[in-house]
Amino acid sequence: MIDFNIINLTECDSTNAYLQNKISGNDTAEGLVISTLFQTKGRGQLSNVWESERSKNLLCSILLRPETLPVKQQFLISQAISVAIVEVLNTYSDGFKIKWPNDIYYKEFKIAGILIENNLSSGGIGSCIIGIGLNVNQTEFHSDAPNPISLKNILGHSVNILKLLDEILSAFNLVYTLVYSDVKMLRERYFDLLLFNGEERIYSDASGNFIGKIIDVEGDGHLLVLDSTNNIRRYAFKEISIIPNY
Ligand code: BTN
Repeated sequence: MIDFNIINLTECDSTNAYLQNKISGNDTAEGLVISTLFQTKGRGQLSNVWESERSKNLLCSILLRPETLPVKQQFLISQAISVAIVEVLNTYSDGFKIKWPNDIYYKEFKIAGILIENNLSSGGIGSCIIGIGLNVNQTEFHSDAPNPISLKNILGHSVNILKLLDEILSAFNLVYTLVYSDVKMLRERYFDLLLFNGEERIYSDASGNFIGKIIDVEGDGHLLVLDSTNNIRRYAFKEISIIPNY
């Protein structure tokens, strides 16, 4: 099990960047967590900005040292943190899911994003920074993110952010053991929590819109979608999007 050590900051540029700086050139142990009330340069995927009002949300980065995990299995880390977050959120209310590959959704609204940055070393993954932005007590969003939602929007009351962080770290500690002990179980738990799995939906890829259903997520993270002609289509991140119906 990982021994987490949380450093709480009032403000920083980005918890991912702060942690990356802190570990460069030294061997800081696995389990360091940087948490902050505000980021001046919060980063999302694909160099998007991550919006978060001061003191309202959970913003943190977790340091892992998955030195024995083969690089080609790095998606397991993404699966483990997604499962842990959704399982904790589902103790607050039903209805949280993972939107492939690792966005966290409530119904068709995004409540959390995960930004994983790996530093590869000669032997494998020397360090892995898991950045989590989870909307907790913010109720209005101003960026152009299409569909944000927070726990407070859903529950109608505020939630203690540090307690939630503790719950997520405890859950992650358990789920993460599966990366090394029971990959099949981890992949099943991830797939069970996957938004729209097995449902016919309208998807869009480079060739246009089509009706399909998610049938599997491969070990390296590729998504498999069965289309209406019984053809299995295989996608990497950002090669497919779902047509929302909200
Ligand atoms: C996404 O675009 O879905 C990923 C968002 C990740 C945001 C979090 S907030 C804490 C950590 N620090 C960052 O700068 N980004 C991640």
